Amino acid sequence: MLKFKSQTAALISDAVAAAFPAAALQTEEINAMLEYPPDASMGDLALPCFKLSRTLRSSPVKIADTLAESLSSPLFSEVSAVNGYLNFRMNGAAFASRVLADIGADGDLYGSPKCGEGKTVVLDYSSPNVAKPFHIGHLGTTVIGHSLKLLHEFAGYKCIGINHLGDWGTQFGKLIVAYRLWGSKDEVEAGEIDALVALYVRFHAEAEKDASLNDRARAEFAKLEAHDEENIALWRWFVEISLREYKKTYAQLAIEFDSYNGESFYTDKMPAQIARIREKNLLTIDDGASVVNLEEWNMPPCLILKRDGSTLYPTRDIAAAVYRKENYDFAKCIYVTSAGQSLHFAQWFKVLELMGDEWAKDLVHVPYGTVSINGEKLATRTGNVVLLKDLFAQAIEKARAITEEKNPALKGREDIAEAVGVGAIVFHYLSNNRMRDINFVLEDALSFEGNTGPYAQYTYARSCSILEKANGEASFDVAPESTNEDELALTKVLALFPERVAAAIEEYEPSIITRYALDLCAAFNRFYHNCQILSAEDPKVRAYRLALVKAANQVLGRALSLICMKKPEKI
Ligand code: ARG
Repeated sequence: MLKFKSQTAALISDAVAAAFPAAALQTEEINAMLEYPPDASMGDLALPCFKLSRTLRSSPVKIADTLAESLSSPLFSEVSAVNGYLNFRMNGAAFASRVLADIGADGDLYGSPKCGEGKTVVLDYSSPNVAKPFHIGHLGTTVIGHSLKLLHEFAGYKCIGINHLGDWGTQFGKLIVAYRLWGSKDEVEAGEIDALVALYVRFHAEAEKDASLNDRARAEFAKLEAHDEENIALWRWFVEISLREYKKTYAQLAIEFDSYNGESFYTDKMPAQIARIREKNLLTIDDGASVVNLEEWNMPPCLILKRDGSTLYPTRDIAAAVYRKENYDFAKCIYVTSAGQSLHFAQWFKVLELMGDEWAKDLVHVPYGTVSINGEKLATRTGNVVLLKDLFAQAIEKARAITEEKNPALKGREDIAEAVGVGAIVFHYLSNNRMRDINFVLEDALSFEGNTGPYAQYTYARSCSILEKANGEASFDVAPESTNEDELALTKVLALFPERVAAAIEEYEPSIITRYALDLCAAFNRFYHNCQILSAEDPKVRAYRLALVKAANQVLGRALSLICMKKPEKI
């Protein structure tokens, strides 16, 4: 649609120059004034002429009337002036051949804003805390983060996905104490991450009764920081067991990270940054701790060193950002976490800026809303959590049961069940604006009816099956003589894809793609139900309709891939 819009703007600009020679208006200015009417019956584009009144020294009604008379182009089937609005209705057939030719010419890159060439983007996402449960609270950072990576890759950026594992901190002291008191090697090997989580939960329960356990945990963590060999070995083992588990979940989502450098990786990189902060005279002592005062920016102080000299989460993030800038020379570094961490990021971004690192402006925090389950807050300690692996397993089981019933002869059923089950949850999660708080109701997330992931995948498979039957006949090189309502509606949605991709990247908002996929499915299914495709008698009509199917297949496939959805050709 962007092209139709800019072409229309250029024609209006010419018409203005001819009718109002005293006041020239640039195409870009007019382009910015053009609107999509809320209701298609009013036309495809509209120019509210009151926006021109001052420049052209004339009334909106007069401007609209004058321009409507002088504007004519094969681009439009109708140009009309209505109450100071200039309305354009496109010539559907011309529009359709142009859109289809564009899709054909751009091929797999149709919709890419192509703005990333030669630039690198670092994305820090998922990043669970080792030995704590990997639960639906992490679904947001994992799938929003990965979609943003896919979107940036599609735009031509080189992307580095980093899993900034929470693999350092006092929780390891707790785990070491718990393991020595109540754990065993065999039990942990067999129970994997669940066994670690159980130890962690037990530690908290016991520490309620016996506070001295917390002191012991602190002491064990101090030993770990001092590189005590035994503790380091345990720590390494805990991390390994957790990673093994995470990687299974990532595989189900087809996610791979370029780096698993977690917080521990930056231990030896912090002193240099602390020294820089000190040199800039930014450090002040506050109740024994070293902090950077941020009062001037209306933020509480950023903690750099605790009373006992140990480092903190912000300190590690500062060291990590400097390391990434040096190693990847990023144009942007994106952090995806829950909105609960917004202050943390605002604080240390500011500290880096004060340290004189002008590239701090390229750090972007992408927050998202909180998740509750059936209306209740997530809480590891009370057991109100749903583990991601359990959630996925349930969804896959449901998908398996349905395919077994509907299509018992289907080949590759197991992979398809996984794609559909996991896809249902991902799609459900990415349907809302990321800042909206989500109340996760299992039944809804696992629903396959209505505007769901399985419905979108099913629509995609339907388009594959038509193309298969057409046996290579579908081509983008068509010149339809006319278009009906359903064909044109589908063509318009296809033409919107580049705008939607650009907006999703600009707003860091994958849900724009999810909603776009649903619009495309609705338009495609309406077209499919109302128009004969393979059985169309007129060869020109058949060719046009097959081209639409091919285009819908390509664009829907791309849209689904961009939001971490697998897209089986048969369901
Ligand atoms: N591990 C943290 C958590 O689970 C998220 C880390 C986000 N990334 C970062 N560089 N701070 O809350």
